[in-house]
Amino acid sequence: MFYETEKNNHGLKYNPYKSIVIPRPIGWISTISHDGIVNLAPFSQFNNLGYDPPYVMFSASTHPDGARNKDSVHNAQMTGEFVVNMATYELREAVSKSSYYLPPEVDEFDYAGLEKAPSVLVKPPRVAASPIHLECVFHQTVVLPGYSINNICNVVIGRVVGVHIRDDVLTADGRIDVLKVRPIARLGYHDYTSVDSIFTMKIDETAFSEQLKAGLGGEAKGKRPRQAAE
Ligand SMILES: Cc1cc2nc3c(=O)[nH]c(=O)nc-3n(C[C@H](O)[C@H](O)[C@H](O)COP(=O)(O)O)c2cc1C
Repeated sequence: MFYETEKNNHGLKYNPYKSIVIPRPIGWISTISHDGIVNLAPFSQFNNLGYDPPYVMFSASTHPDGARNKDSVHNAQMTGEFVVNMATYELREAVSKSSYYLPPEVDEFDYAGLEKAPSVLVKPPRVAASPIHLECVFHQTVVLPGYSINNICNVVIGRVVGVHIRDDVLTADGRIDVLKVRPIARLGYHDYTSVDSIFTMKIDETAFSEQLKAGLGGEAKGKRPRQAAE
């Protein structure tokens, strides 16, 4: 089959698009308003961009009333900070609950029954029960035009300035134990998946430079020129 996105002429009972770019990791974003009201919401239009420094992005459509941005976007832009909390299988019900449309004055941590943990470099708190957090400072919003007023997308990009990893999800040889973390990811419809299996593929060592090999394997060796001079 073939269909055009502007016409949505796929003829299916359900729009297939959200089941195509999958699985989508979930950025569980905490922010705080100028008035000190904490906000928490999941975004599956979420990913990492670059590593040194790392940036992350989450994309939010306009609020369903079409008249304003979602609270997460508003707060990140107004205060310049947000935190990404790892959305895990264990916390799946709270992730879902934190997505409900609630007035801006409602603290979704309280609503979803979650404890807060303070951040180190930014003001928005972290989800205490989540094993990994990224503290971020706002970098830029890219606005993508929509086919309708409530489908304009605000792609919020933040620079990751601090990373928390709970000790018990690190293996003895210094890797994140992903099966222990069990991140959840979005499929289409009401479906999700979680990481519960891993396979490894070794590269042909001769085909890569030392630097690229280290990058692919995630090795922590090597310093930036600025660090080397210190
Ligand atoms: C798993 C999951 C993923 C979601 N992903 C997105 C997304 O990528 N973009 C978006 O605009 N809304 C997404 N939503 C809906 C938002 O979480 C929801 O609109 C939320 O109320 C926004 O909160 P805020 O206004 O407090 O920022 C998602 C909901 C769930 C449950």
